[in-house]
Amino acid sequence: MKRLVIVSNRVPVPKEGLRPGGLAVVLKDLLARKGGMWFGWNGTCHPDAAHLPPALQKAEGVEYATIGLTPAEHRNYYTGFSNSTLWPLMHSLPEHIHFERRELASYWSVNERFCENLLPLLRADDVIWIHDYHLLPLAALLRRHGVRQPIGFFLHTPFPAPDMLATAPDGGTFLRDLLRADLLGFQTADDTANFIFAATRKAGAVVIGDDALTFEGHTVRVGTFPVEIDPTRFAATARDAADLEDLRRLSGSLAGRRLVFGVDRMDPTKGLDHRLAGYERFLETYPQRERQVTFLQIAAESRTDVASYQALRNKLEHQIGQLNAHRGQADWTPLRFLTRGSPRPTVAGYMRLADIGYITPLRDGMNLVAKEFIAAQDPENPGVLILSRLAGAAKQLDAAILVNPLDHDDMADALERAMVMSAAERRERWQSCWNSIASRTALGWGLSFLNILEGAKQACPPA
Ligand code: F6P
Repeated sequence: MKRLVIVSNRVPVPKEGLRPGGLAVVLKDLLARKGGMWFGWNGTCHPDAAHLPPALQKAEGVEYATIGLTPAEHRNYYTGFSNSTLWPLMHSLPEHIHFERRELASYWSVNERFCENLLPLLRADDVIWIHDYHLLPLAALLRRHGVRQPIGFFLHTPFPAPDMLATAPDGGTFLRDLLRADLLGFQTADDTANFIFAATRKAGAVVIGDDALTFEGHTVRVGTFPVEIDPTRFAATARDAADLEDLRRLSGSLAGRRLVFGVDRMDPTKGLDHRLAGYERFLETYPQRERQVTFLQIAAESRTDVASYQALRNKLEHQIGQLNAHRGQADWTPLRFLTRGSPRPTVAGYMRLADIGYITPLRDGMNLVAKEFIAAQDPENPGVLILSRLAGAAKQLDAAILVNPLDHDDMADALERAMVMSAAERRERWQSCWNSIASRTALGWGLSFLNILEGAKQACPPA
């Protein structure tokens, strides 16, 4: 059996008392099942990091090989080019793009360091799976060093329309580098189509079938692989959460009011400022709803060194204060906003308790929270999902109330529609959403990608 090598920017190194969530669990299960190694950044910063070899450890059948970043690399490669340039670019938010040449140089050199440190660990029977926008050049770097094993790349973010790519310094180089992989995976058919359009128009690749391109004599398969959750497992977690103290306290504090719920990282792509504005517009447009609802938003702080994230935090703090001060009453706080994350079972329980899931990113590769909200519901009395039509998940969950995350009136009307929706319509919409996720699993997502990648025979010639 071939060994799976996963490469991602951040590796959730097993630590006492820390349990990874979401995609980290999926990749770990995949590695444990196939036997393999996870290579990447261990999340630490140290001035000597660039001179230290990878740290190796094994836990629960998975090998981990991790490196640190220097403070300069963290500033320029991670905070800088990855999260201040590429992240907003991939999400088509040009107003958030910040670009510095020295940050691009650091991005290249960290990718080279990933490559140099990974090379001696590779075996002839490996299958290499690279993840996400931090590592766009890595497949090409590995090829340049003679790596002939199958290489796959999966992009967790959206892939932008070709014009957006023009705002990327070296956009053409990134496309050519990605085309050195054997299999490229995207979240939605639109992302795949955007990539194919850009690769053919800007990098000279040629389409040779529904799911394949040829580039400088090398065949690259391209496909859509929407990331999934484990719906049955999440449903059980949500059901079991009813007895948690946190749940009892939240439920008691609502005093019979309807619960609107959202949970995200505090990130400019999540549309939190517009979401709050939509909620405020709802209270303004439908004043009879005063005192009838409570909106609980969890927005765990993230990437706090990035300027646009700091600006968002300041803006939200101002907005939250204003909303509660202007709309609140002596015995009613319309909005509860928490920046501390909560344990997964508690969040699952909050979702089940919620009458309305309010998830309105400006753009999102997938948005697993939306799928989790559906899985968490009581099928007999489900809550209503309000979802941004610009989240990848909206392609599957099209029976949710889909909204424009920039249109405050649209969001206000959607909240009112959810408030008055009949139980029969709630069940019908929920059933349709559930049907689109119920037969899939996160592990199935990983295996469907790997099955194709493992079949890749032809090694790419040197770049
Ligand atoms: O969605 C992209 C992603 O990189 C996820 O894989 C990750 O969970 C999240 O963003 C936060 O990433 P980080 O804290 O490593 O920047």
